[in-house]
Amino acid sequence: MDIQVKEEQLSSSPPDKPKLKEGNYIAEGRDSNRTTWLLFSPATRDEAGSLAKFLSVFSSYGVNLSHIESRSSARRPGYEFMVECEHGSGDFAAAVAKLQNSTGYLNIISRNYKDNRSVVPWFPRRIRDLDRFANQILSYGAELDSDHPGFTDPVYRARRKYFADIAYNYKHGQPLPHVDYTKEEIATWGQVFRKLVELYPTHACKEHNHVFPLLIENCGYREDNIPQLQDVSNFLKDCTGFTLRPVAGLLSSRDFLAGLAFRVFHSTQYIRHHSRPLYTPEPDVCHELLGHAPLFADPAFAQFSQEIGLASLGAPDDYIEKLATCFWFTVEFGLCRQDGQLKAYGAGLLSSFGELQYCLTDKPQLKDFEPEITGQQKYPITEYQPIYFVANSFENAKEKMIKFAQTIPRDFGVRYNPYTQSIDLLDSTKQMKDLLRQVHQEMDLLLTTMEKLT
Ligand SMILES: [Fe+2]
Repeated sequence: MDIQVKEEQLSSSPPDKPKLKEGNYIAEGRDSNRTTWLLFSPATRDEAGSLAKFLSVFSSYGVNLSHIESRSSARRPGYEFMVECEHGSGDFAAAVAKLQNSTGYLNIISRNYKDNRSVVPWFPRRIRDLDRFANQILSYGAELDSDHPGFTDPVYRARRKYFADIAYNYKHGQPLPHVDYTKEEIATWGQVFRKLVELYPTHACKEHNHVFPLLIENCGYREDNIPQLQDVSNFLKDCTGFTLRPVAGLLSSRDFLAGLAFRVFHSTQYIRHHSRPLYTPEPDVCHELLGHAPLFADPAFAQFSQEIGLASLGAPDDYIEKLATCFWFTVEFGLCRQDGQLKAYGAGLLSSFGELQYCLTDKPQLKDFEPEITGQQKYPITEYQPIYFVANSFENAKEKMIKFAQTIPRDFGVRYNPYTQSIDLLDSTKQMKDLLRQVHQEMDLLLTTMEKLT
């Protein structure tokens, strides 16, 4: 029997109501310290009534469950189940012991490290480690709330499941699946595209306006065509090394931010419901490709985004929350000053016809971007932002993020190694010496070249 018990300290905080607004695949739970998630599958394929059997285990040991989910297993044939157990109810250890003897696969996702600050939360070290949490999602992308525009549309729901399944089965290194979008989907994209391109010249930052024509030229950005993620990912890789990977549902803040450390952006591939083309309660392909993708092609912005990701690796939960909030007020809803004028660079703004207009009026309050302050700012998720934070430049914002990252209590430094696509942990003098040697060589190269040029 393939029993796998892990305590990888992955952030897996289930939301009551996901903190989703147009633009963000980030959610925090209502009180994730008090719950533990279990992922498990039956010992044999298609065991009849297996969910009921497992649920009776929790019931018999008095363990309260606040979330139950079944889904097709990516690890073995058949189904797997995901439940959220409330701490302090019943005999949790006994229930887990019972499950260990009756399941084919069992994974415990715990945040117990919070009890001990000297323990570092798990984080991916290699780019392929992103596969390890890609499916530890908080809700499957096919599930829609009752107030979602597509809730009562069975065709749309089936389509959403199709997209969620694509992402669920995706593994690092595979090509991003090509999608044949329907006429209706393309028409929805077209309406969004047409409205937004009217505003970009006057409302978007110069980086967005610089890259957008290149996306039209290279990636099939057109009113009558939804670009393929693979084409956009290839383009970004050429520009800054950023790549896209499909996401099947809602990732925790910790996992989402960890992807940025590798210059990987988790992207949706489905499109909003056709009945409300200028509204979406969650990020969709319009948001990702019109809002996010152009900025990830800019070197300074890409570096800034990666700095947030690097800062998140192994950071305590309270810092993850601050970093996720900084992400919200910059990558999602950031404004910047360019040539004396305010411009939008946040993807939540650049993909929303209404908020893109609103954000540059005198209605919202403006504050300077300061990670320590910005990271503590509360914000609404279902309406336009009352406050925006303004960056002087991406370079300046990056410097501030690096300084903020230095305040995060970690006994090590992290550095992305682009050759191996892995994270180098810096926690010994030998590593420092090796790094200094590399920097020294690069300084030599710079000096020699400068001498030649002058
Ligand atoms: Fe977003």
